[in-house]
Amino acid sequence: MKGRIAIPERGEEAEALLARMAAMRQGDADWRSGRTWSLVYYVDEAHHELVRRAHDLFLAENALNPMAFRSLKRMEHELVRMTADLLHGPPTAVGTVTSGGTESILLAMKTLRDLARKKRPWVRRPNVVLPRSAHVAFDKAAHYFGLRLKRTALAPDFRADVRAMARAVDRNTVALVASAPQYPQGVVDPVPEIAALARRRRIPLHVDACFGGFILPWLERLGHPVPPWDFRVPGVTSISADLHKYGYAPKGVSTVLYRDMAVLRHQFFVATDWPGGIYASPTMAGSRPGGPIAAAWAAMMGLGQEGYLRLARRALDTAGRLREGIGAIPELRLLGAPDATIVTYAAREDLPAERRVDIYAVADRLQERGWSVDRQQFPASIHLTVNASNGPVVDDYLADLREAVAAVRGRADLGRSGEAAMYGMMARLPARGLVRQGVIEVMEQMYGPEGGEPDLAGGGEERGWVGRFGARHGARVLAALERLERLRRR
Ligand SMILES: Cc1ncc(COP(=O)(O)O)c(C=O)c1O
Repeated sequence: MKGRIAIPERGEEAEALLARMAAMRQGDADWRSGRTWSLVYYVDEAHHELVRRAHDLFLAENALNPMAFRSLKRMEHELVRMTADLLHGPPTAVGTVTSGGTESILLAMKTLRDLARKKRPWVRRPNVVLPRSAHVAFDKAAHYFGLRLKRTALAPDFRADVRAMARAVDRNTVALVASAPQYPQGVVDPVPEIAALARRRRIPLHVDACFGGFILPWLERLGHPVPPWDFRVPGVTSISADLHKYGYAPKGVSTVLYRDMAVLRHQFFVATDWPGGIYASPTMAGSRPGGPIAAAWAAMMGLGQEGYLRLARRALDTAGRLREGIGAIPELRLLGAPDATIVTYAAREDLPAERRVDIYAVADRLQERGWSVDRQQFPASIHLTVNASNGPVVDDYLADLREAVAAVRGRADLGRSGEAAMYGMMARLPARGLVRQGVIEVMEQMYGPEGGEPDLAGGGEERGWVGRFGARHGARVLAALERLERLRRR
């Protein structure tokens, strides 16, 4: 990608161009086969074709002006109403469609900050109290909107510790947060208890159901134990729920809902004095693409409740089969809820050294076999987001996982080489500022004029700080950390 890249002098012929683009995709994740956990939520070709055609119909339309494109305004309204109905919103419930989970969370945090500005003008340094597991988009919101996050410890079952949250609340707290479920282990926080705290302290509560908004209601209808978390819980002020996850819409669409307009009004942006005219905007973007709204509307109308129930059953069965297979591997242990569509597992640490595995070394082996692997930290684990399309690959995955575990069993050295060394080092290095600095340097390289390869690991000089540092010093840093841990244990 070196050298000058300019717009071609003359335009290329359409078919040749499209063929070239199809070829470019060859190295990409193969989501249709179900080997990609998360990133893409796929149903089947018929559904894909429906949402593609709906997207195409509104490809050029711009929801910035609801007067010009009344169709989009109507679809947005219906998406919000249908979501509010699903989540047991009161008749006053309102909201907007956004571009994704992160935007929904950013908007909810900005809105609750601005609500506090209006109602509690004495708050100078607004903070948000949330469990450690809440999505990193809240950190982004804090970064963008000048909020301080007070993250609290988790209970041993990974749910929010409500007493720790209660202790963290102070007179500058403008919002509490709970997740339904949280991403790392897929457990639903104790929303009724957190909502009771919110009511006692008169603080709004945002429930992040970006992941669960379009799956928990169906699991509940299928008779699975789902703890209360939606608008039925008094004290829940707002909810984010992603259409581009279990709503089975293509990427770029989510919802953020509020109990009533008294809160939503703080989300709106209006400028009255610009020479370009009076400008009103409900969300972060200015121009708003029509395609995702149309595709989400088509997804919801096309699947219907019956379709969503069928897909939820399929995803849960798949997660159950995975959990059963992983649970039968003696070197591993499952983390999190037993009936969620997130499956997380770690290495058992209570085994003799010759039976122990390094989970990041397991991840490396799975990756070599063509699986896309989500590695987590605190604790070191592997995360699988299961959707309706993953069913056919469960047996292959489990077979590869058993082989991976057998290959790394008792081989502590493998945890100190390859990508495992880098992930291990990044998870365990106490100097988090150093890790952050390294990641920023890799991003600078990726987004620099030469557009470096998006590759964190490996040893080449080209690969940025994290890769270079990991390759050169990872094993040494890990060995030193292990020595320290042994000393601390003594
Ligand atoms: C619980 C939760 N909240 C928020 C998000 C952020 O969503 P997005 O990636 O659409 O911005 C995710 C994404 O996985 C999530 O799992």
